[in-house]
Amino acid sequence: MALAITWLGHSAWWVQAGKHRLLIDPFLTDNPQAARQAEELEAEVILVSHGHFDHVQDVASIANRCGANVVANFEIATWFSQTQGVKHTTPMNIGGAVQLPCGRIFMTPALHSSQLPDGSYGGNPGGFLCDIAGVRLFYTGDTGLFSDLGLWAKPAIDILIVPIGDLYTMGIEESIRAIEWIQPKVVLPTHYNTWPPIAQDAQRWAKEVGARTSAKAVVLQPGEEYRYS
Ligand code: NI
Ligand code: MN
Repeated sequence: MALAITWLGHSAWWVQAGKHRLLIDPFLTDNPQAARQAEELEAEVILVSHGHFDHVQDVASIANRCGANVVANFEIATWFSQTQGVKHTTPMNIGGAVQLPCGRIFMTPALHSSQLPDGSYGGNPGGFLCDIAGVRLFYTGDTGLFSDLGLWAKPAIDILIVPIGDLYTMGIEESIRAIEWIQPKVVLPTHYNTWPPIAQDAQRWAKEVGARTSAKAVVLQPGEEYRYS
């Protein structure tokens, strides 16, 4: 089956496979790149990689409107259910997997931080390895480069979503080393160009990926969809 992935700007992603609708790190309201409004999205599952505002801002409003299942580490899932009125959560932690109707979701570690917007402890930051409709998607979340990223090269990753913005996460150079280790078939850049401090030349990044790795680099504009089958 095919997977359709839309970049919503910054590090927010919309994933569709058949009737399944997943949203990753929805940050739309104060996102100058946002390609959709929170009110437009009907999600079944919302994956939250860590507690920072640019990943959690629109989680509660979307989940509370459409009853989406919020999948996050234990601390963040508990924060959403206890302080944001979210009814359906799946608390998990790094190294564990959960089988949901849309597929299997495994939480990977990330080298980052995770405080929630009100100062609450947000547990450890992570990423998600998703097996959806026979496609293996790896969203690393906000992370610096660390060699354990190479652990997820097998079984083979179809699609990798990796930050390139630098400053808060990997930049172009580190992302290419991560791509060399992870060896995905396709790679999409994220977490860049939202604001001037994380401006990047994604075309230069794509050229470097093409020259130095076996992955196919796909650069989307906010709102643009990529179909993988
Ligand atoms: Ni962050
Ligand atoms: Mn971030």
